[in-house]
Amino acid sequence: MKFLIALAATASVLLPSVQAAKEVFAHVIVGNVRELNAADWEDNVKLAQEAKIDGFVLNIAAQDESNTASLDLIFAAAEKANFKAFFSFDYAAQGAWPKDKVVETIAKYGVSPAYFKHDGDKLFVSTFEGPANAADWTDIKTTTNSFFVPDWSSVGAVEAAGLANSVADGLFSFDAWPTGNVNMTTEPDLAFQAALGDRAYMMPVSPWFYTNLPGFNKNWLWRGDELWDTRWAQVMEVNPDFVEILTWNDYGESHYIGPVREKELGLFTSANAPINYVKEISHDGWRKFLGFYIEQYKTGVVPTEFEEKAAAYYRTAPALACGNGGTSGNNADFGETEVPPEQLMEDAIFFAALLKSDEGVTVSVKVGEEEKPASFNVFPAAGKGTPGVYRGSVPMGSATGEVVVTVTRGGQAVASAEGGKPISATCENNVQNWNAVAV
Ligand SMILES: *[C@@H]1O[C@H](CO)[C@@H](O)[C@H](O)[C@H]1NC(C)=O
Repeated sequence: MKFLIALAATASVLLPSVQAAKEVFAHVIVGNVRELNAADWEDNVKLAQEAKIDGFVLNIAAQDESNTASLDLIFAAAEKANFKAFFSFDYAAQGAWPKDKVVETIAKYGVSPAYFKHDGDKLFVSTFEGPANAADWTDIKTTTNSFFVPDWSSVGAVEAAGLANSVADGLFSFDAWPTGNVNMTTEPDLAFQAALGDRAYMMPVSPWFYTNLPGFNKNWLWRGDELWDTRWAQVMEVNPDFVEILTWNDYGESHYIGPVREKELGLFTSANAPINYVKEISHDGWRKFLGFYIEQYKTGVVPTEFEEKAAAYYRTAPALACGNGGTSGNNADFGETEVPPEQLMEDAIFFAALLKSDEGVTVSVKVGEEEKPASFNVFPAAGKGTPGVYRGSVPMGSATGEVVVTVTRGGQAVASAEGGKPISATCENNVQNWNAVAV
């Protein structure tokens, strides 16, 4: 890219300044993947590439003995497919990373052709937290020739940017979920961008948040519902330098967009969860429009060539069908007011369709035998009749059974969303599963 800038400068003074290539990554919790083999990683890479994701952000905890074996498999699969990966050093999960261990890890995997380099030059490195270790990075950066974009969200945008001043090339924010019964806004993103000035901003996009892991002392949710498509619309407004999807495989917090592999779900037993809230709960629907969104983000133009698709997002029981599992809405540890979870999550089936136009289009939602009147009420930014994602919802009511969303145009089937776990009037162990199916 440096080369391109030089070229542009000599070619014409009228050319706009060349922006760094925009890239989209998905966060992988490496601590969850010790059971995965080479074939699983080839499949993960293939699924991510089908969704036009550029690479994985590899979250690694300092003391995790399984890191090496997993990283070897991940980099091997990425190299084979020309996929990318870079590290997010996790300073919270198992304590701070010693400086020399960071240097050693970057040096070892940085030689892989799959390791993502900013502008094809510096090794891209991020963190989960670790503002107290900011000073370590002056040496780490010099030794490893890296481009440093940490997440120090816990101290807020302004303080994080102040810390970044001396050592970071940009910042990632972990502020991806709304507090309260409201939609997520771009306010935190704009605060980061403003505090960063010219330095890079990596924006978080996540579909959901629910965790109930007594062994880790975690039991809360934030509002999900239509968060995924709302956030992608916000990506187009914010136009960040990079996007990081939270996450590919964080099953414990229910924001995975990768496949559910049963052998990765050991944490529900080890952390004493009252129910396994991920088993059979597919999130594949959250990858359906990604290719479209990512192309729009990168080109700045709404794509017109794509396959029309439909998706549905819903929980598998009405909120009050069973006990709430002690789960709170919001989290007082973050200074938030806790409310009963049913005040945040709506008992609704959310549906969305990627269409070239909604002209002559009808959408229908069936739950079991019950047909629910449905129509779109959220449209692409350019309005009805234009290509993009059309959205709506219907109340869950008391209907039970399979959810089938069908989109037709002039009586012809266009796309459908189905095959997810059915809605039921009861819950396993009488504990509400606040995770959502996305098909
Ligand atoms: C969230 O935004 C959608 C439009 O994207 C709107 O239909 C919905 O009413 C909003 N929900 C809340 C709780 O504000």
